[in-house]
Amino acid sequence: MLDISGKWVLLTGASRGIGRQVSGALADRGCNLILHSRNLEHTFDQVARFQAAGLTAHALAAELSDQRQVVRLARQALRISGGIDVLYNNAAIQLPWREDMFETDLEEYRQSFQVNTIAPITLCNMILPGMIERRFGRVVNVTSGIADMPQLMPYAASKAALDKYVYDMAPHLAGTGVTMNLLDPGWLRTDLGGPEAPNAVESVLPGAMVPVLLEDDTSGKWFSAQDYAGKGLI
Ligand SMILES: NC(=O)c1ccc[n+]([C@@H]2O[C@H](COP(=O)([O-])OP(=O)(O)OC[C@H]3O[C@@H](n4cnc5c(N)ncnc54)[C@H](OP(=O)(O)O)[C@@H]3O)[C@@H](O)[C@H]2O)c1
Repeated sequence: MLDISGKWVLLTGASRGIGRQVSGALADRGCNLILHSRNLEHTFDQVARFQAAGLTAHALAAELSDQRQVVRLARQALRISGGIDVLYNNAAIQLPWREDMFETDLEEYRQSFQVNTIAPITLCNMILPGMIERRFGRVVNVTSGIADMPQLMPYAASKAALDKYVYDMAPHLAGTGVTMNLLDPGWLRTDLGGPEAPNAVESVLPGAMVPVLLEDDTSGKWFSAQDYAGKGLI
């Protein structure tokens, strides 16, 4: 497993749910953390806790449905760090269940694709070149195993588009020292997953760390966090 202590991480959606779990696991491994949410207050307690433990931790705010804020987020993170080593694209939205599966609500598609597809792809495209230049990087894009739920199609389609980006970019990262992979957390009880989900949010660990820690430098793989739940790391 890789030693990622002292590596700079940009983690989106760090304030709640899965992102909060991942931020703790990254802190345990001694990373320098840049924690994103929509409001600096949402990660205030995490930043304070990590700094008190002697780590370097910063908070950045960006509304990912606003493309200008996405670009600003990448620029700020690159300025603070001097170069991001681990990009963890976790933030996403899932708009409400639509009983009529034939409804095409353009605004729901537009918002879902902006936050769940275009924002993470923009962060990848702005951060990957520096990783390739420094010959090290780990990119994790959080996807979903959602299937057969056309009532949530804006969400499902936006995640499928992100998967496509990862699969088609993967061969171009071969031999660069940089990997980009997908992480399916499973269905978890979070604000997004809802109270009916079968799995506790804590079950995303340790699996969520596997695509960060693997030394193997192949890209384009799908990791299911639930495969590792209750087990050792790798
Ligand atoms: N939970 C599940 O069952 C499940 C299943 C499959 C995949 N996933 C994926 O796992 C990831 C995390 O999900 P979660 O369940 O942890 O979600 P969550 O509890 O709802 O947390 C969402 C996070 O994303 C941020 N966020 C939400 N909307 C945003 C926006 N418009 N702009 C910027 N940041 C925004 C939130 O920041 P604020 O606190 O500032 O709002 C928060 O940190 C997502 O990619 C999701 O698709 C989840």
